Amino acid sequence: MAYLKRTANCGQLRASDAGKTVTLNGWVHRKRDHGGISFINLRDRHGVTQVVVDSDAGAALRAAADELKSEYCVAVRGTVRPRPDSMVNPNMDTGAIELKIEELQILSRCETLPFVIDEKVDAKEDLRLKHRYLDMRSASMQRKLRLRHEAALAVRNFMASKGFYEIETPTLIKTTPEGARDFLVPSRVNPGKFYALPQSPQLFKQILMVGGFDRYFQLARCYRDEDARGDRQLEFTQIDLEMSFVERDDVLSLVEEMVVDLFRKTMGVELETPFARIAYDDAIELYGTDKPDLRFGMAMQDFAALSGAGTFQAFHDAVAAGGAVKALVVPGKADYSRKQIEELEAQAKVYGAKGMAFMKAGAGGSLEGGVSKFFAGQEKTILDRLGAKEGDLVLLVADPKKSVACASLGAVRSKLGAELGLCDPKTFKFAWVIDFPMFEWNEDERKWDPAHHMFTMPQERFHATMEKDPGPVKGDLYDLVMNGYEMASGSIRIHDPELQKRVFNIVGFSEEEAMNKFGFLVEAFKYGPPPHGGAALGFDRLVMLMAGESTIREVIPFPKNTFGISPLDECPSPAEAEQLDDLHIRIVEKADSN
Ligand code: AMO
Repeated sequence: MAYLKRTANCGQLRASDAGKTVTLNGWVHRKRDHGGISFINLRDRHGVTQVVVDSDAGAALRAAADELKSEYCVAVRGTVRPRPDSMVNPNMDTGAIELKIEELQILSRCETLPFVIDEKVDAKEDLRLKHRYLDMRSASMQRKLRLRHEAALAVRNFMASKGFYEIETPTLIKTTPEGARDFLVPSRVNPGKFYALPQSPQLFKQILMVGGFDRYFQLARCYRDEDARGDRQLEFTQIDLEMSFVERDDVLSLVEEMVVDLFRKTMGVELETPFARIAYDDAIELYGTDKPDLRFGMAMQDFAALSGAGTFQAFHDAVAAGGAVKALVVPGKADYSRKQIEELEAQAKVYGAKGMAFMKAGAGGSLEGGVSKFFAGQEKTILDRLGAKEGDLVLLVADPKKSVACASLGAVRSKLGAELGLCDPKTFKFAWVIDFPMFEWNEDERKWDPAHHMFTMPQERFHATMEKDPGPVKGDLYDLVMNGYEMASGSIRIHDPELQKRVFNIVGFSEEEAMNKFGFLVEAFKYGPPPHGGAALGFDRLVMLMAGESTIREVIPFPKNTFGISPLDECPSPAEAEQLDDLHIRIVEKADSN
């Protein structure tokens, strides 16, 4: 039987439509029965309309109405009528009218629901993911996925307006070292050989520059076999871009303009520009992290010079060992209890600190409690230099390793930001972190690793000395950070094959190994590669923060859970013996597996 096809949607009807006969299709959101009258809130993607089966309804219509339960999919035909003044609902777009039903068809029935579909589904996440199709019917998921769509569209429009082409790159590629573990796909026709799923389109976008495309972008799906966390998924989306004949600032301004346009078009938010720029070393010194949350100040200060006059041995030891003593002034929190301070110390310890000291700024320029007794006579100097006032709490971490002191007190700063309500989710504070180190020392393997990837251009001032002393070499490398998250990273790339060889060498890649792993790029670079650079933004993270959420699973239609499992389709799942045979794969139980 042909069904009653809609002539309007559930968010559309207004007082001016009164008198019209319309058909709506949708789901039963709520149903209330009142003295022989049924009020049904009918919902589709566009909104909710109240439809009414009146007391004068015929027997068939009444029977159909009586059968209706939540989430039945129905078609209704009827006449739009204004609601009586006392019944007008100003909170509903369609609140001025209702539809008096003349005909009702049940299009499909719905079994007992595993959870109630409301503004937001209040059920365990795995249950929501198992029934994602129901979860998605909630207003909150509908809003978030619409925002994701609008954000993607805004990005595409902006990039096209700037002369970028969206070009697809393959998702079955050669396995290449890029930081995380590759997902491998066995080849049936090439026994024992594997494709990898791309961790990013990095090499291909560089090849597109060699191919003369000048400006490329892509909403690219990336795959990384790493532990799924709040802001990480095995499978995620990047706004990936690459540009030819550019320098660092060209890429930064393009990305900045794109982000500003995105927030304006999708949220009506005007971001503060230009985005701040912070050198990596400063970010570590001031905030203890390369992704600082700049919605609040409370920068760390150096206490090493001040600790000299005191008699606290741990501070002296840290300084003598070439480490650091860092201080954090927490305004007005001298009344923090020992327990509260211990909780902050526990956070510092997660990041390797052996402990955290404190002092409280008391009345009349005094320092009280904690390690203050070791600084008798130094009160004024300390308070002046730290800019601390009566009622402030001073937290201190010393460590023979500067990186540990910075990271641990930085983590305390972040915890305090949340605790003191300084992290308004509606404030979006972007900043560029620039001048990253090119190389990181790998203590386990006693070798230098690339800090980003091996195609990043070392800054020119280090070209002469980089083999001799890789540690201080800075790359033409940048991250975009927002509210404590890394939103994007990118770099200017090496386009000189000789320089590329030198970088491979420093990170312990022999020419043979380099040829084996990325020979195709090295080969392409023999044929007139242009100077180029680019960046990639984590699209899921961006939409997550725009939506005010704290996990990217909330803005991904079909995410994996924290165990890398999709409760909806139950992947990963075992393969048939025949499939494995075709792929020349044998499963071997590891003796120690559990
Ligand atoms: P990078 O590896 O830093 O750089 O990735 C760029 C951005 O992608 C996001 N991101 C993730 N989002 C969700 N889940 C993940 N597992 C995940 N991993 C990364 C982050 C990150 O800033 N090819 C280079 C970019 C370039 O140099 O142009 C790259 O992929 O927001």
